Amino acid sequence: MAIVRFKGFGEVDVTVGTSLLEAATRAHFPEGSACGGVCACSTCHVHVLKGASLLSEQEDEEADILDKAFDVRATSRLGCQSKIVADGELEIEITRESLEAYENEHPAERGKYTK
Ligand code: FES
Repeated sequence: MAIVRFKGFGEVDVTVGTSLLEAATRAHFPEGSACGGVCACSTCHVHVLKGASLLSEQEDEEADILDKAFDVRATSRLGCQSKIVADGELEIEITRESLEAYENEHPAERGKYTK
């Protein structure tokens, strides 16, 4: 099992093969996913603060989409494209861009995470 901590929200235990977006969704944490997880939007943008080596390698397609994201750093990944490949602990920060996207996808929660 891997433990994924989402900064400010909590943690969730997941099995190898789970993506970061799937982990957040399972725990009901607010990570955007406008394209449905097919590497076409960048709204699932996260910063991997700890455990980057436990994730699948970044493919060219992911890098191309991340080029369009805001606040891109060396720690940036797309949650839908980052699969956990080994057991361990990860710490993830959901970007403001992703929180805003989540709120847009869930109007009843608008302003809850981005104040
Ligand atoms: S959900 Fe659209 S790129 Fe990840």
